[in-house]
Amino acid sequence: MHRLTPKLALGAAAALLLAGCQPKAEQQYTGLDMQELMAHVVDPAADAFWAGSGYEITEAGERDLSPTTDEGWKVVEDGAATVAEAANLLILPGRPREPADEWTKYAKAMQARALEAKAAAERKDKQAVFETGAALYQSCVACHEKFVILPEEDREANTR
Ligand code: HEC
Repeated sequence: MHRLTPKLALGAAAALLLAGCQPKAEQQYTGLDMQELMAHVVDPAADAFWAGSGYEITEAGERDLSPTTDEGWKVVEDGAATVAEAANLLILPGRPREPADEWTKYAKAMQARALEAKAAAERKDKQAVFETGAALYQSCVACHEKFVILPEEDREANTR
């Protein structure tokens, strides 16, 4: 038996209202814009990791950039950890650029590479830090190639 009581009607109206409001609420994003998020969160964190990775060629010869203290290793690991978590910020509602499913794929790839990088730093494995650092860099470039270096007209469609 189907009956429409006031309570049911109200409930249905509230459900509709909620359904109608939800997508809007998801768009209410108030943090940094993408350029700032990259410049002040993602990039410095990745740099902290890369700074402790590989060798520097100087006039005096090769210099190992790997940390020499526990504190130094922690800084490198912290950088990778921050990049891994920043991937979640990239996919907060309102952030992804279109096509959003591809955006999310690149963000998740960056997260996976950052977690591998973090694990390498945790093990203080110099060679793995170097290799995971290179792979992390590739994950940045992959998204930038897809979403940043765009012809002028496409850029205008992606202005967030
Ligand atoms: C999911 C896509 C995506 C990933 C992954 C990504 N970026 Fe970006 N990045 C962007 C976009 C989009 C911009 C352009 C933002 C703008 O100017 O509106 C950008 C811009 C930048 C900029 C320029 C900021 C400025 O001041 O103009 C830097 C630096 C940067 N990214 C670093 C990185 C690093 C380092 C990584 C990897 C650890 C990375 N990004 C991963 C999408 C991404």
